Amino acid sequence: MSAISKSHSPVYEHAQQVLPGGTFGNTGADLIIREGRGSRVWDEDGNEYVDYLIGSGPMIVGHNHPEVTAAVQAQLQLGTTFFANNRQGVELAQAIIDAVPCAEKVRYASTGSEADAFAMRLVRAYTGRDKILKFEGGYHGYSDYGLMSTTPKKPGNTVHAIPDSAGIPRNVSENMVVAPYNDTAAVESLIREHKGQIAAVFMEPFQRIIPPRPGFLEDMREITRKNDMLLVFDEVVTGFRLGYGGAQEYYGVVPDVCTLGKAIGGGFPLSAIAGRDDIMAMFDRTRSGADRFVPQVGTLSGNPIAAAAGIATLEILKRPESFKTLFATGERLKNGLAERLARSGIEGQVVGVPTLFDVVFAGGEVRNYRDTLRGDAARMAQFNTLLRERGILKGENKYYISLTLTEADIQQTLDAWDDALAAMARG
Ligand SMILES: Cc1ncc(COP(=O)(O)O)c(C=O)c1O
Repeated sequence: MSAISKSHSPVYEHAQQVLPGGTFGNTGADLIIREGRGSRVWDEDGNEYVDYLIGSGPMIVGHNHPEVTAAVQAQLQLGTTFFANNRQGVELAQAIIDAVPCAEKVRYASTGSEADAFAMRLVRAYTGRDKILKFEGGYHGYSDYGLMSTTPKKPGNTVHAIPDSAGIPRNVSENMVVAPYNDTAAVESLIREHKGQIAAVFMEPFQRIIPPRPGFLEDMREITRKNDMLLVFDEVVTGFRLGYGGAQEYYGVVPDVCTLGKAIGGGFPLSAIAGRDDIMAMFDRTRSGADRFVPQVGTLSGNPIAAAAGIATLEILKRPESFKTLFATGERLKNGLAERLARSGIEGQVVGVPTLFDVVFAGGEVRNYRDTLRGDAARMAQFNTLLRERGILKGENKYYISLTLTEADIQQTLDAWDDALAAMARG
């Protein structure tokens, strides 16, 4: 396989001319995917990869799954968007309510970022409070409020929210309170300090690849109840990935509201806010009253093509063997990586759950964002590059497991890990 620093495809040169930095912003300019089928993708240079990027999560049942493709093709004959209620969107809402413990009502948007931004506004409207407590390192999309202290390079005092992007007004950080993940005492102390001002604890229940320590989610549930605050789980990644009912089912802690994205659109742009009926009523002027009403519209919200793809995806995931397979495959790979890493003598550990994990090249416990900063970033980049050269495609910090991984894919991945770690150990 060729080196991957520069694609030889004319698309690469064209992208340099028409895109800032030659990219859409998601990955490096060198990665130009031509096609995906099942567990594999092909780039414009004809290189073939076992795919652990899977569109950054949505393609959990594999690329071009025949059932999803058929559902989309059937809907295409009937039209592509209406800006009105449609049968597919209503049926998908029912499937979400049936699956996700906190979901009594569902509202759609198109991306996870939008769902998170609307959910923040929703909990502010419901409680009449402006502040939101989030965790350092947690990602809640690209809105001004979402993009706070997600990847601070020089984290100072956690309590002070640091914008992750230029162009965010300075006063936005005044309404975001930032705590270290997995630290109940810090959360309690911040809530005391901002008493009566915080609308919600807004969190990834499983933050990036870091699991909650036992009891942490239960603590957040109890503390928010005691302080008349809401608990929001951002399940854009974990929804229909940690289990059919998401992280709230997997860990047995039910929030008041959650956000969903990725898997529920089956590879098309669709996201949702789902939650308790009395909170979701803020989206309904007849129940909220004019003062508390949160208008929520979007040209493509509840798009029927995306909803049809989502329904077909959830139907596949709902089959009892689906999550058994996802977890069995993931377990084998996660353990296989941990064993190989230990054998290599390189300092590091595998962090995560079977369906979503990665290596952190650092010793010691990894409980929060600051612990991940101890990880050797150069080593991580080198490992990812060596794997790409061996036909393994993944994101910077995640292996997303998909349902269509085959025995040959698993074997190729295990061999690539062996080979890449050996190359790294040699220096
Ligand atoms: C936890 C979490 N929330 C929100 C988002 C934003 O979703 P989107 O990229 O669809 O806007 C992401 C994206 O990866 C995410 O990981």
